Amino acid sequence: IIQELKSGTAPAALADAIEEQVQYKPEGDKAILFREFEPGIVLNRLRDFSPDQVIAQIKESGLSGRGGAFFPTGLKWELCRKAKGRKKYIVCNADEGEPGTFKDRALLNLMPQLLLEGMIVAGYAVGAQEGIIYLRAEYTWLLPKLNEELKIYRKKGFLRHRIPELNNYKFDIRVQLGAGAYICGEETSLLESLEGKRGEPRLKTFFPTEKGFLGKPTVVNNVETLCAAARILELGVERFEKLGTPSSTGTKLLSIAGDCKRPGLYEIEWGMRVGELLEMCGAENPGFIQMSGPSGELISAEEKDRVISCDDIRCGGSVMIFHAGRDLFTILYNFSAFFTHESCGLCTPCRAGNPQLLHLLEKVIRGQATAGDVSKMQQWSAIVKHNSRCGLGQTAPNTLEQAIHKFPQLFQDRLVQEDRFNQEFDLEKAL
Ligand code: NAI
Ligand code: SF4
Repeated sequence: IIQELKSGTAPAALADAIEEQVQYKPEGDKAILFREFEPGIVLNRLRDFSPDQVIAQIKESGLSGRGGAFFPTGLKWELCRKAKGRKKYIVCNADEGEPGTFKDRALLNLMPQLLLEGMIVAGYAVGAQEGIIYLRAEYTWLLPKLNEELKIYRKKGFLRHRIPELNNYKFDIRVQLGAGAYICGEETSLLESLEGKRGEPRLKTFFPTEKGFLGKPTVVNNVETLCAAARILELGVERFEKLGTPSSTGTKLLSIAGDCKRPGLYEIEWGMRVGELLEMCGAENPGFIQMSGPSGELISAEEKDRVISCDDIRCGGSVMIFHAGRDLFTILYNFSAFFTHESCGLCTPCRAGNPQLLHLLEKVIRGQATAGDVSKMQQWSAIVKHNSRCGLGQTAPNTLEQAIHKFPQLFQDRLVQEDRFNQEFDLEKAL
């Protein structure tokens, strides 16, 4: 089934069936994203507002980027609106590559209309003429569905035609496929890839709001962010901002996977405690929980009182639960192998440092590592983290660093016991 889905040959009905299995809907007023959607409703509401009023509403709602960085969405739109240039773009980042994350896939599959309307709202707010959905290659099977919806929206006159009620505003959207590289989820690599170049991060001389796609002001937003913006217009700011916490308003989609009875997609209110989350998904005897994917935060089952919000655990969407019987080092090794494979190779610390970490982890797993090797891991982690060019390298050692800090005994138990190896690593001597 996975091969069929990857190659795009799986029937759409099969994909829908999988989505239905994994979806858990919240109830009543707490449902913002996963509730019935009537196509066209957001665009009707849009007629009541000027672009500046739309931006003001999004700012007031406190909506922040749901891809994982939580930059204020209203501010991003405002910066793009104010940027000089007649041609502007809205890019939807649908390159959902963080391992364990499948929230955007469900939105794209179950309510593509909500996303299209969110993109039109963003386009109208910033004064953009074109929207592009950058769809990850593994989601090729969603392409016909998205193109079909685009056709319907064009037929209805919402896209590609002037809309008299919106001051003759005209906007169109197209879908462009990625080619299976994790790094293209990083917004500047994504823009390079969109332009037909090799997907490598740009130097951050300019934010995309100033110079983005083809050097023009561009808003890059995650699927969930655009869908939430559409809902804010539809349901009203008040409804959104009264949910969550003062620093993190509204709801968040979490894709929960691993050792629990009820894995799946959840829409939670920000402010949920880890203990409640574990209960919600039926996790029995968990050992470790990986929040926000391999580049995020590793927490222990004891950290039940930690809060999922921008003040504490800033969870981008992926939650992986590992039973207490799982081997931490196998998990760390898999994460490290992932980053080694996905590094684009542009800068040395990330290209060369990640394989070093992988090699050291392999030594631990084989029972051949010394305390000095653990020190080396810490040194390499710092080198990769502080000297890499983009978010991939800067966050790749996160989980390993946290594991050393939080579970020193597990490392101790796996080291070779010979005294001759049991010395602290001294970088200067080694050099
Ligand atoms: P960032 O913090 O550099 O930027 C976040 C967003 O705000 C970007 O769109 C950036 O252009 C914008 N921005 C920041 N300051 C700005 C300013 N002064 N003016 C205009 N725009 C501004 O974070 P980055 O590197 O874009 O994303 C890293 C995050 O991505 C991580 O937190 C990680 O959790 C997440 N991530 C998500 C994945 C997924 O599949 N959803 C995969 C891997 C990482
Ligand atoms: Fe490429 Fe890694 Fe450098 Fe990012 S940090 S530019 S992924 S080599």
